[in-house]
Amino acid sequence: SYLGIDLGTSGLRALLVDDEGVPMGAVERHYAAAHPRSGWSEQDPADWIAALEGAVADLRAAHPAFAGLRGIGVAGHMHGATLLDAKDRVIRPCILWNDTRAHAEAAQLDATEGVRALSGNIVFPGFTAPKLEWVRTNEPEAYARVAKVLLPAAYLNLYLTGTHVADMSDSAGTSWLDTGARDWSDALLGAGHMRRDQMPRLVEGCERAGELRADLVSAWGLDGAVAVAGGAGDNAAAACGIGALSEGEGFLSLGTSGVLLAARDGYCPAPETALHTFCHAVPKRWYQMGVMLSAADSLIWLSSITGTGAAELTGALGDTLLPPGRVRFLPYLSGERTPHNDAEIRGSFTGIGADTTRDDLTRAVLEGVAFGLRDSHEALKASGARIDRLMAIGGGTRSRYWLRLIATVLGVPLDLPKDGEFGAALGAARLGLIAAMGVAPENVMLRPAIGASIEPEAGLRADFDKTYAAFRASYPAIRAIQ
Ligand code: XUL
Repeated sequence: SYLGIDLGTSGLRALLVDDEGVPMGAVERHYAAAHPRSGWSEQDPADWIAALEGAVADLRAAHPAFAGLRGIGVAGHMHGATLLDAKDRVIRPCILWNDTRAHAEAAQLDATEGVRALSGNIVFPGFTAPKLEWVRTNEPEAYARVAKVLLPAAYLNLYLTGTHVADMSDSAGTSWLDTGARDWSDALLGAGHMRRDQMPRLVEGCERAGELRADLVSAWGLDGAVAVAGGAGDNAAAACGIGALSEGEGFLSLGTSGVLLAARDGYCPAPETALHTFCHAVPKRWYQMGVMLSAADSLIWLSSITGTGAAELTGALGDTLLPPGRVRFLPYLSGERTPHNDAEIRGSFTGIGADTTRDDLTRAVLEGVAFGLRDSHEALKASGARIDRLMAIGGGTRSRYWLRLIATVLGVPLDLPKDGEFGAALGAARLGLIAAMGVAPENVMLRPAIGASIEPEAGLRADFDKTYAAFRASYPAIRAIQ
């Protein structure tokens, strides 16, 4: 059997798959993030280990096949800085991806000559390098003790293998990696006041990174050696879970935040568009994604202020897609990454009339999010990505109306996977399987069974194109008055 671990922001999911990669069972353990100050977000890595050990105990108890474990892959929330001293002791709580304390340091690094060109990305405040700059200035004693910096998934790799090893897909989110060359960049490390010896060894996500420590093999009751894969950042792992490895394949994730991800056969960075361009978890491939910060979160916000459940709000619209309404919504409730890279901007409603109803507001919110996703789609197309169809995942996909709307606004058919496993934990398990067996990724990273496909509504395309142009014009106008 093989184990996929998805180290998420709110909890850890562990999925056991059989020797063919078919899911047998999953368990979850939850933990919290601490927010000691506004904009701060931290976790104690000891909580991740406790969650992992708890999840392993549950899987062992439920599945005799666990004893025949042959491979493990870890996917993790990206960008977090886990600081270790020379004895591998954690120096301070991990500073997470959604922590924005290092925004000034990020802007400074981003403006440094050569940084965007080498890393292929804007240095966003949540990325790893600016966090270390913040620690250098604000916690110099801690900074002086930093012998290694590990991303959350790499910290689990250390626990599992006893060695410092990280995969390319996660490492690309540090702003220290030459994303095209798939290697640490001495220039980027220098810009961030870091050294190569403070970095883990790099491997591909599906490559064997090491072996499970002998003491864990016996503590977990395993009957033989276990390969540990390089692992992946959670978005790359999710792409592996739905089989998006090659040009033309990708997914739309309609969760709290929205992600539009396209697999790329080559390296085509476009930092000026605020797209993320990262290494994939398999060799010689990359992926690009647009990230919008408030996708389903926008609907949840409307639901909370109207005191009406999200399903009731969207259900009231019926199933037939309506042409764009007069009311417009800008979905920047928490600022925006793609395409604006603007942490300060906030959302807006415009076009409200005396006759505006709750349903009009719901429609405007769904449309505003769809237009925000189109911004990412346009950026992806401009950098040469081809998107033929998109797999749609995440809580927001429960609304058929929303899916029809997004398919129409993007002009791309959406495929809904049948119920089952297709997320980052499955992607991670597949990495573990490939690392152990040495099989070709293309033979393992298969598409899930499709439950339904949603086609764009050709008759409404032109109307939505026109309204999208108005949406594009709204941002600079609203920006100017905020
Ligand atoms: C990606 C990002 C998030 C985290 C959280 O750039 O910040 O998707 O990986 O899961």
